[in-house]
Amino acid sequence: MRDMKGRIFYAVLSAGLMAFLGVACCRDVVRVVNPRCEMQVNPVGLSAAAPHLSWELISGERGVEQRFYRILVASSEENLDANRGDKWDSGWVRSDESVYIPYGGAPLRSRETCFWKVRVKTGKGCSAWSQPAAWTMGFMDASAWEARWIGLDRCFEGERTEGHTRLAARYFRKEFDAPGEVRRAVLYISGLGLYEAYINGKRIGTQVLAQAPTDYDKSVFYNVFDVTETICPGENALGVVLGNGRYVSPRNPGMRHFGFPKMFLQLELEYADGTCRKVISDDSWRATAAGPIRANNEFDGEEYDARMEMPGWNESGYADEAWLQAETVAAPGGKLTVQTNPMIEIMDTVRPVAIARIAPGVHILDMGQNMVGWLSMRVQGKRGQTVRLRFAETLKPDGSLYMDNLREAEVTDTYTIADEREHLWEPAFTYHGFRYVEITGYPGTPSLSDFEGRVVYDRMATTGSFTTSDTTINRVYRNAYRGIRSNYRGMPTDCPQRDERQGWLGDRTAGALGESYIFDNGLLYAKWLQDIEDTQRGDGALSDVAPNYWPVYNDDVTWPSAYIVIAQMLYERFGNLQPIVKHYDSMKKWLDHVRDNYMVDYIVTRDYYGDWCMPPELPELIHSQDPARKTNGALLSTSTYYYLIGIMARFAGLTGNTDDIAYFEGQAIAIREAYNRKFFNPATGSYSNNTVTANLLSLVYGLVPKGYEEMVFRHIVDKTMVDFDGHVSTGLVGIRHLMQGLTRHGRADIALRLATNRDYPSWGYMVEKGATTIWELWNGDTADPAMNSGNHVMLLGDLIAWCYEDLAGIRNADGAVAFRRIVLKPSPVEGLDFVDASYRSVRGVIGSSWAKTADAFTWKVVIPANASAVVYVPTCDPSSVREGDRPARSAEGVKFLRSEPGYAVFEVGSGAYCFNVARGQ
Ligand code: BGC
Repeated sequence: MRDMKGRIFYAVLSAGLMAFLGVACCRDVVRVVNPRCEMQVNPVGLSAAAPHLSWELISGERGVEQRFYRILVASSEENLDANRGDKWDSGWVRSDESVYIPYGGAPLRSRETCFWKVRVKTGKGCSAWSQPAAWTMGFMDASAWEARWIGLDRCFEGERTEGHTRLAARYFRKEFDAPGEVRRAVLYISGLGLYEAYINGKRIGTQVLAQAPTDYDKSVFYNVFDVTETICPGENALGVVLGNGRYVSPRNPGMRHFGFPKMFLQLELEYADGTCRKVISDDSWRATAAGPIRANNEFDGEEYDARMEMPGWNESGYADEAWLQAETVAAPGGKLTVQTNPMIEIMDTVRPVAIARIAPGVHILDMGQNMVGWLSMRVQGKRGQTVRLRFAETLKPDGSLYMDNLREAEVTDTYTIADEREHLWEPAFTYHGFRYVEITGYPGTPSLSDFEGRVVYDRMATTGSFTTSDTTINRVYRNAYRGIRSNYRGMPTDCPQRDERQGWLGDRTAGALGESYIFDNGLLYAKWLQDIEDTQRGDGALSDVAPNYWPVYNDDVTWPSAYIVIAQMLYERFGNLQPIVKHYDSMKKWLDHVRDNYMVDYIVTRDYYGDWCMPPELPELIHSQDPARKTNGALLSTSTYYYLIGIMARFAGLTGNTDDIAYFEGQAIAIREAYNRKFFNPATGSYSNNTVTANLLSLVYGLVPKGYEEMVFRHIVDKTMVDFDGHVSTGLVGIRHLMQGLTRHGRADIALRLATNRDYPSWGYMVEKGATTIWELWNGDTADPAMNSGNHVMLLGDLIAWCYEDLAGIRNADGAVAFRRIVLKPSPVEGLDFVDASYRSVRGVIGSSWAKTADAFTWKVVIPANASAVVYVPTCDPSSVREGDRPARSAEGVKFLRSEPGYAVFEVGSGAYCFNVARGQ
């Protein structure tokens, strides 16, 4: 990441130098880069009637603002080259918008490819056209489908769909003739629960564990691939393997079960002479369940018997007489739509760091970090020998695997050897959360070089980098990074290892915001909001788990609040208004459901989870039993409800539901009054039983009566510093706002203390105890294993957002969308010598890197073109601030705005700046 930043700084500087030397024509001053459609690079398979286009500007000049843009969309590359926007020529549009611009041209048709480019005029000159980009439409309506759903809807010997379900992978094949020159071939495929597709033996795409999980009764995804390169003239073969994923319930009963694996495929061949041919899934396909993947279950693992491999099964000419005829089967209930969130891939490789023999024939492999994915293994032995791999996060004192916290997950992969050659193997349809692997049955002595860990998560760029002078914060950040990526599996999950792995809503309410600095997760979370809507019952209730494989309808407020809070995040961070528009009615319906069923005199009386997983009074407890530590449930739900309707009032404005604004505002006034009447004690200036969470939520949600804010805040400070000796006392709900709540009320020092603690309870305590990810419980080392994962992210709360927004100080200005206007306001808190952060926003890279020495405070900032920033330089004396080698007040592009307590505030345009303040000023 530092490298990337280095390159960006260099690019910015070199462009500036060119301008200085006078070699730049006006077009070189600003360049349009990174053109994206629906925030994807050249996506294939869109169904939106008006896809949204975005781009970034880069320039070596300061203060670059887009004034106009012009978009050309053409039906061919030639037309685009000739500047003929036959689909759409937007003309010069006066606008500073560069994210999520809706296509406004001729109607789009299924399958068509559109080529596009954009250029801009800025205050500093105009750009050349961007590099050409493209998008390809999927199917805009159901009539394009001719394929049939096919499968083998029955259990074969040794299979079961009850209990720990056990099914072999299903293999399907079909040969087809492709005479003549194929100009384009596009594959549309849906494979439930999981699939791998092949053409002529070649694996299609780089994805694993495709397709993304949904409530298959409501939504079913299909994926689209351009497969032109794989088609040969003459005979060809299609092969598809189906795994169980979440379609076949890993636990039945215990988790929703949808049915037997099934697939739906349409391959469209477009010939040079303009004719088209389709190959579709139907009962002419051959199928078998007698392939090498004998069993696959996401919780229990995969069994692979290489003796049953079928060489050439996915190529033409394979003798498939022993195979069965595929059957047309009932379609899943859900609507078929194209998957828009990124697919899962192998994103990283981890080499094991140690291997130990703990008993004859039993070895323990240490990956050096808790990770999610699987092991690839090199093995050579005799036919029929079976190697068994079992996975766990921690070890028992005797060096064997600690399995208790995995509950009933069997987490075991087996590989049975076919012949004496050396083989490299990895599973296809399972994944594990693990640091340690127990290896048994391995022929000979396994060594480190025989294994590699495959880290899998949704293909998304790492957008943030963050380091400080404090090693504890750096370690915690690193653990958070690993934990977050561990829990992306086409949905944000709670954990990756035990027999759960569900999209619990509560875990991501605040976390999603922090995560979005580190990962480009906008499309994943937009997908998840649909999963949430898909859980909605007719009465408006939402499940606490989405997709609701566990249909948990507790009518809690704090868990489903993720629905509204994350929609806000997607809009503010990425500029994506669509989720708000799409889900507004459903959000309102849920709020109405809560009001109609649980609101009594403006107090929401229902709460199910409490301030989940606060540090308990005894080390072995999961949940505190101490009434003094627990926050009143009605306080949690009422304050959260109040917060949500504030957001909804804004959404109502954004979506044109202006009639609702007065309703939400009226509700807010009534709830605030009732809330304070019930929970606020004006004599003490505290809420309810004076927990940190009770006072904090009241404060940050703006519920505290005017004039009492300081008193309430003082209770938060006293509780934390005195009763909890400078330690966290909140659970999942309080931690959502703790670090920023403290910092923004002037106590960054306490936040820093919480972030750097190494004793219990703290994130640093987890590090101290050897954690390489984040635990589910503050006391994860001592608590009951029944609910004690080593790889949860919910307790991060607002920690990551605090790192970027408060320590580095990179924030979206109030009301700004997608960093069009940035606030840079760092907290150079005592105890930190430097913070170095960068975040690649949808407009480009924002950088904040400050360092303190005894003599000076130096701060380098980067603001992307077409953004501007209000910059808070931490000094009381504006005249002491220099930018580069000049007083800041007279530096190019820098305007002094005002002094504020502790800060001199300037306004700057885009560009790279270096502010200096002599210390002691
Ligand atoms: C999950 C949590 C979740 C909680 C809610 C746990 O089992 O792992 O992360 O939020 O249940 O009850």
